[in-house]
Amino acid sequence: MDHTNPIDLITLPVTTERLRLRLFTADDVDAMHAYQGLESVARYLYRPPHTRERCAEVIDKISGPPRWAENGDELVLAVTHADEPGVIGEVGVKLAAARARQVEIGWVFHPAYEGRGYATEAARALAALAFDALGAHRLYARLDVENTASAKVCERLGMRREAHLVENDLDGDRWGSEYVYAALAHDLERLPSTSGSAR
Ligand SMILES: CC(C)(COP(=O)(O)OP(=O)(O)OC[C@H]1O[C@@H](n2cnc3c(N)ncnc32)[C@H](O)[C@@H]1OP(=O)(O)O)[C@@H](O)C(=O)NCCC(=O)NCCS
Repeated sequence: MDHTNPIDLITLPVTTERLRLRLFTADDVDAMHAYQGLESVARYLYRPPHTRERCAEVIDKISGPPRWAENGDELVLAVTHADEPGVIGEVGVKLAAARARQVEIGWVFHPAYEGRGYATEAARALAALAFDALGAHRLYARLDVENTASAKVCERLGMRREAHLVENDLDGDRWGSEYVYAALAHDLERLPSTSGSAR
């Protein structure tokens, strides 16, 4: 029996028309903090903005060789322009339920790089990787119902809105409600091509 972990067969970086998706390194702490440290970025993440120290801890955790076998294993990739080293955001997938091959996807970008289709382009490439290389059966995203930009990324990817959870979490003193968006492996052909820009 072949015991090769699918994540060991992935070739990084992943490249798209405009972007490069690679593992974070210890040199990226300031670049991550530049967006993860912002109140506006953390607005719908149900946690405070990351301190620089927290960014260093996160990078320490995600920059090593990724594992993809147990619930909670994740692959988080730094997104840069194809021809520039600076990190403009990140996309990640997490093995939420290994046996049923349920994979959660997420994205966080620096506000300076919003509105250009980068999040959709990076997420589309990672979604293809999750289905094709990591064996995902179902890919889903959970997002605050007020996070319209994130819902639009899901819809551009071809994910369907499966659920509306009403006041299922507390965001500070605000009751938060969430949408769950998802796509199955055989929906992949519904996802627009990974090679072009976001539309
Ligand atoms: C969620 C988030 C990544 C979305 O960013 P975004 O910039 O809206 O998404 P994209 O990069 O895919 O850009 C899409 C926009 O670029 C526009 N665009 C401009 N040029 C484009 C191009 N060449 N190709 C494609 N789209 C382009 C699209 O029309 C779209 O605009 P619209 O939403 O007004 O219709 C961003 O708001 C963010 O990081 N938020 C904070 C973190 C967060 O909440 N993450 C999600 C948690 S669930």
